[in-house]
Amino acid sequence: MRELSLDDLPNHSPWPARLLDGGNGETDEQEAEYGGTGVSDYDEVYANLLGLVEANPETEFRELQRSANHYAEESPVAISRAGDLFLVDVDEKQELQDEALVASLAGALDGGETVVSLGCGWGYELGVLAEAYPNCEFVGGDPAENGVALGRELFGDRDRIRVEPFDFRDDEWDLLEDVLAERDADDVVLFTQGSLTALPSVRDVVRETLTKYADRVREGVHLEHVYELHSEESLLGLLRRAYTERRNYNDDLLASLQVAEGVEVTSATYDVVGGNPLHPLSEIRWESA
Ligand SMILES: C[S@@+](CC[C@H](N)C(=O)[O-])C[C@H]1O[C@@H](n2cnc3c(N)ncnc32)[C@H](O)[C@@H]1O
Repeated sequence: MRELSLDDLPNHSPWPARLLDGGNGETDEQEAEYGGTGVSDYDEVYANLLGLVEANPETEFRELQRSANHYAEESPVAISRAGDLFLVDVDEKQELQDEALVASLAGALDGGETVVSLGCGWGYELGVLAEAYPNCEFVGGDPAENGVALGRELFGDRDRIRVEPFDFRDDEWDLLEDVLAERDADDVVLFTQGSLTALPSVRDVVRETLTKYADRVREGVHLEHVYELHSEESLLGLLRRAYTERRNYNDDLLASLQVAEGVEVTSATYDVVGGNPLHPLSEIRWESA
């Protein structure tokens, strides 16, 4: 792991240049190269991975993620931690992301809990967490059909991992209801990683739906991109704000949780890891107020 100066970031990420020229005059094709952020865009990616696994049914979930990582990027890659930038190789980046994921639940689990991961994609995070917490169960949900199909293909034979259809925009979160019907509130942890981010605003989802479950779970843990924590007084903070705006990711997660009825935000830790240094994951935890 080598330190990277902000001045050098444009040599390792196309985003500073894209953000600073405002993207004016870019064609739809050029924009599309950045990768879309809608459910159908994720579903397309998961369909390709599902095709790989169907062709090679012995593929293990970590191996699949590793192949996808090496297809997407070449070492060294830029990452961030706590506001500092580094260059690492592709596998080390995944290790750092896995470490942050496992650490985020360390204080929330002491054995026997069910973690409900909303917007889990194809469930890579479920596999990592199930290995780290062998006495817990993991239920994931995602609206991308191919993600659910791939998760079932990879984890279908594991009794501690389940993947189901799920959409934050539904009035009731059936996936969570089903778990709550069988478990005490103290045994259920609500988790998200990089999925609330995908919504242009989370205000209504938090206010209308998440609050209904706040006193029915032990704790909420989010590893998400938190716009409000980006400084308006540093160049990196301003670039990160511009990135969120350009990609139409939400800018209201922390504020929405802070004013949500029945929710008490207990910590917000900035930039636990940034696989994209302009779009780092921060950790928010809350409990029932
Ligand atoms: C960046 S991926 C993160 C996936 C996974 N949690 C991870 O960390 O690898 C964003 C995920 O959010 C999901 N997503 C998008 N809109 C959603 C919605 N309305 N409800 C639930 N999940 C959604 C996408 O399908 C995608 O799988």
